[in-house]
Amino acid sequence: MNALAHCVEALWAPGADPINAALATEGIRTLAAGLPTIVDTPGDIGAREQVLYGAYLSAVAFASAGAGIHHKICHVLGGAYHLPHAKTHAVVLPHVLAFNAASAPSAAARVAGALGGTDAVEALDRLYTRLGAPTALKDLGMAEENLDEATDLVLAAVPPSNPRPVTRGDLRALLQSAFAGSTPRARDTARDAREEQVRREEELTATVLASFRDAPDERLKTVMRSLTSHLHAFVRDTRLTEKEWHAGIGFLTAVGHITDAKRQEFILLSDVLGASMQTITVNNEAHGDATEATVFGPFFVEDSPRIELGGDIAGAANGEPCWVDGTVTDADGAPVPGARIEVWEADADGFYDVQYDDDRVAGRAHLVTDDDGAYRFWCLTPTPYPIPHDGPVGRLLAATGRSPMRASHLHFMVTAEGRRPLVTHIFVRGDELLHSDTVFGVRPSLVKDFVRQPPGTSTPDGRDLGGRTWSRARFDIVLAPAASA
Ligand SMILES: [Fe+2]
Repeated sequence: MNALAHCVEALWAPGADPINAALATEGIRTLAAGLPTIVDTPGDIGAREQVLYGAYLSAVAFASAGAGIHHKICHVLGGAYHLPHAKTHAVVLPHVLAFNAASAPSAAARVAGALGGTDAVEALDRLYTRLGAPTALKDLGMAEENLDEATDLVLAAVPPSNPRPVTRGDLRALLQSAFAGSTPRARDTARDAREEQVRREEELTATVLASFRDAPDERLKTVMRSLTSHLHAFVRDTRLTEKEWHAGIGFLTAVGHITDAKRQEFILLSDVLGASMQTITVNNEAHGDATEATVFGPFFVEDSPRIELGGDIAGAANGEPCWVDGTVTDADGAPVPGARIEVWEADADGFYDVQYDDDRVAGRAHLVTDDDGAYRFWCLTPTPYPIPHDGPVGRLLAATGRSPMRASHLHFMVTAEGRRPLVTHIFVRGDELLHSDTVFGVRPSLVKDFVRQPPGTSTPDGRDLGGRTWSRARFDIVLAPAASA
């Protein structure tokens, strides 16, 4: 076993070289092959010759490579505490191999291969078991109270070229396990590092979550903790680089800079990420046949003009006339008189009034249902338009191969006493953009027939359209009770 130890040590001792490594590897192979036979049949001359050959190779390898950490440990223990030379080598070797293996992978691979295994430490352990080799310094006369002193003596002698840096703590632990005879385990430094990395990341998240523990508002605490959890998970899942973090900050800064009283880039961002639609979905739980809600969008304006039933919301906006009528009822089918209906839409060029530089008010108005819950008005046949895409959100869509186009739609906001407010649109059946609406606002129940009327077709209210085409749509609105909101 002393010879085997010198062969292993020759793989990383200060004078290790490739020729020597070949001799040492052959030495390990022959010793491992011959020793079990000698244990079984002490008189086997062939096995003894084989082991003698291995011992010779170990001596050649040691003479060239010199003494490493293993040899230093054994000679300190032998010299200072009179431990038996060969048995001490046998006890210490597995612990030194386990200590160095991960830091000397090619040496470990050679040892494993020469011992007929895949893991050097495990293969050596099997050989020790097969041979009944000594395993504990305490069995050789070492006193536990001398381990601290021994540690200091060895530390002073460890060659600086050892493949793994040796701290006093490392060395003390190595001697302790050699003293006790515990099974050595190779340290998987790669796995240790991975576990440490995960521990650091999880600890940081936990620390931030804990920082909200004294928030006086329970709801704020819940929201901030959930936001923190998801934000940290995002950073960890994507392994977000610092450059990407800077790009993200720059993007949000640009979203802020372009936002003003008329341009709300943050809502656009929320819209194109589906966050607006998801918030609406969460907050407008399904209730019977109640009309589905959809995105509010950035173009609603307070204090729109009032029109009477049958009036026109278009104002100065251009487009094909469109007649919309319907009823507002509650979930039981009862009419809702006096419901306020806000309606707004883009013109035929795809712009809302607020997107023009003047202060025009066009394509928006509000009206009130009659005693039967009925309503009717003129507007413009909805046409597709892009969301404003000359800013950071537009660049995001371009960078991700997405279209800025919204499916053609007409906005509604309906409010009535005792009813859940409804913000929704109706969409035009047949519009090719229904399946790629950039803000994810389309709900199948909101797609309506906008029936085109040939020129000259009489209008519901007798209005003269001068021979132009027009369209008409019906939209019956069902409001959920306020209690379910
Ligand atoms: Fe819109």
